[in-house]
Amino acid sequence: MKTVSDLVDEGVAGRTVLVRSDLNVPLDGETITDDGRIRASVPTLSELSGAGAKVVVTAHLGRPTSSSDTEFSLAPVAARLGELLGAPVKLVPLDGPLPNLHDGDVVLLENIRFDPRETSKNDDDRAAFAKHLADLTGAEAFVSDGFGVVHRKQASVYDVAEDLAGYAGGLVLSEVEVLRTLTGAPERPYVVVLGGSKVSDKLAVIEALLPKVDSLLVGGGMCFTFLAAQGYGVGSSLLESEQIDNARKLLESGKIVLPTDVVVADRFAADAATRTVPVDGIEDGWMGLDIGPESVTEFAAVLSTAKTVFWNGPMGVFELAPFAEGTRGVAQAIVSSSAFSVVGGGDSAAAVRALGLPEDGFSHISTGGGASLEFLEGKTLPGVAVLER
Ligand code: 3PG
Repeated sequence: MKTVSDLVDEGVAGRTVLVRSDLNVPLDGETITDDGRIRASVPTLSELSGAGAKVVVTAHLGRPTSSSDTEFSLAPVAARLGELLGAPVKLVPLDGPLPNLHDGDVVLLENIRFDPRETSKNDDDRAAFAKHLADLTGAEAFVSDGFGVVHRKQASVYDVAEDLAGYAGGLVLSEVEVLRTLTGAPERPYVVVLGGSKVSDKLAVIEALLPKVDSLLVGGGMCFTFLAAQGYGVGSSLLESEQIDNARKLLESGKIVLPTDVVVADRFAADAATRTVPVDGIEDGWMGLDIGPESVTEFAAVLSTAKTVFWNGPMGVFELAPFAEGTRGVAQAIVSSSAFSVVGGGDSAAAVRALGLPEDGFSHISTGGGASLEFLEGKTLPGVAVLER
């Protein structure tokens, strides 16, 4: 696989380079609430710009259904990227025209998903859009740096690398290198912490991980399906009844550790009435929104002996203060352990920053939630495979 450093060595001054970044950040109106992915994209863009390339960045925001979905405009992202790069980043419509670029300039194309061909299942549509991107920009090379999106077979991620010489960006390289240590021979004990709402979303990765890990700690909304599989009543907590049998089979591994207490609320709100109850004490009408303090202690004890940790998914609704302590406690236990620790993107990475935990307390914070899970599942990531050809 050729890398961005190879490209810079070949000489990029005055040449146009198309870069796919993952700048899909959470927004509150036009305010970016976590700029982690933008910051992670800066080193590759700076490297190319510093070497005199004319850099055209493509990225998506959310899942717009049409170009009139203006709340999905990348305008706030272009502004933040410009601040971080120390030079304004112009936002360019998907059908151009491209401004006259000088060596070292960086511009950002508008939300690439405003064109339905980007995500089309039809190979010809995607190929046509990839060709449009190559023609519009006049790019001579393509750098794939959006690790968070390499699991998507989409025009700006996959098909452009069929038309243009493809290179892996620094972010993709570092993410893949770290995740390979987890799929190779991780130092033991290897402990995985999984949260998030649905067992169905994580079923494949749990099945892939169980033979490899020593313990799998389960919190978040999905723990209630496992608790139901053990015969507990879960009140109005999140429950995927059709997954109870699957959960029961997974529990047979003997490696899954479930909470022993939970924080329940009478409704889903920051000012709800709350109490902490043992898992056999969840009453009808109450919903579990976080793991309890006893569970944090139990999980922390397992984590304290770990040599390798992978964490994906919050332990509770950390965005609401009364339900943030489970996630904070488990994250703190990972920081306190001496293990090689990887945070698997998405909500868990956002939680680290939102709860004010030290980012350098973890060995690696991935920018890809779905992408890192698919990597651990052993799936081929189209955006990486196309660079390896
Ligand atoms: C993500 O947020 O996981 C990536 O940016 C990919 O986004 P997607 O799930 O909408 O493809």
